[in-house]
Amino acid sequence: MKILIAVTCLLEIGLLLALPYKKHKLELLKRKSRSTDDFIPCTHMVSSPGEYWYQSPGSNDVCGLYLIGQPEQLIEIQFTQFDISCETGGLLAVFDGWELNNQYFPGVEDHSLPMIERYRTFCGEEAPKTLYISSQNVALIQFRIPQAGEGFKVKVGFGINPQPCNVMAMTTEGVFTMKNFGLQRNCTVSIINPVKIKMVNVDVSVSGERTSIKRETGLTNKCTDFGGGDYVQLLDGSGLDPAYMETEAVFCGQESSTDKTFDVVLGCQNSVVRMVSSGKFYNSLTFIFWPLSQHDIYDSGVPGHC
Ligand SMILES: *[C@@H]1O[C@H](CO)[C@@H](O)[C@H](O)[C@H]1NC(C)=O
Repeated sequence: MKILIAVTCLLEIGLLLALPYKKHKLELLKRKSRSTDDFIPCTHMVSSPGEYWYQSPGSNDVCGLYLIGQPEQLIEIQFTQFDISCETGGLLAVFDGWELNNQYFPGVEDHSLPMIERYRTFCGEEAPKTLYISSQNVALIQFRIPQAGEGFKVKVGFGINPQPCNVMAMTTEGVFTMKNFGLQRNCTVSIINPVKIKMVNVDVSVSGERTSIKRETGLTNKCTDFGGGDYVQLLDGSGLDPAYMETEAVFCGQESSTDKTFDVVLGCQNSVVRMVSSGKFYNSLTFIFWPLSQHDIYDSGVPGHC
């Protein structure tokens, strides 16, 4: 996974400090299996369990440890050492999701918790005692430690999410099944790559019970008139939050014949499949996705809104 990240200041939500706001860009390259007990650089992505530590070289930069697990996993965070003095302006925030360029994943409309409950900020000499568990397969530890020599050590583990909803894909091709488990909730699968998406099996706004008989209604985009108004959106854009992305397709209904389903090109840096569920149906959606070919890009061009 190749992600261009400009680290921004989630910390400021908690601090409301007029901190001179410095953006730095970096490229997080392909994930590597890393040994445990790793020293991490200022901004870094981690996808394997272990103990990671950071020691400040004495800089005001805002740093980020981006954590990602498999789609059906949750992130577990436990600090084992902690020395970030409040007096020198040191601060660390644990965020339930990712933040990139001032946008959040999951988006505000897709997360079960309000924004204020999605981050916790800490400073001082005592490690935060609680084991922190994220709501989805991504979490972020953001920190600014101006005092040289200070830092922290954190244990990162991965638990099981029995009902995955929001997911950041770890790969640029694969197959996914989204379900709402009969619940009222909005779920987003985010793929940080331009991709082509093909629906394989759609059952949205149709089945009222687990054991429904397939009626094969076909697909429609008139979802407000159809059933209870549940729907799937395909979006693309350059940021993380679906609320700021462009809708390329909307549909609902029931279809399992791949001859009758369609595929859609999502040509921006970030591609999203979002399922909006009222709680009146047991929705499920299976789709496959793969990176755009040169041919696709030539055919469709890069959308203007990217
Ligand atoms: C789900 O998304 C819709 C449309 O974006 C929004 O109106 C609704 O409030 C959201 N529902 C929940 C439970 O967050």
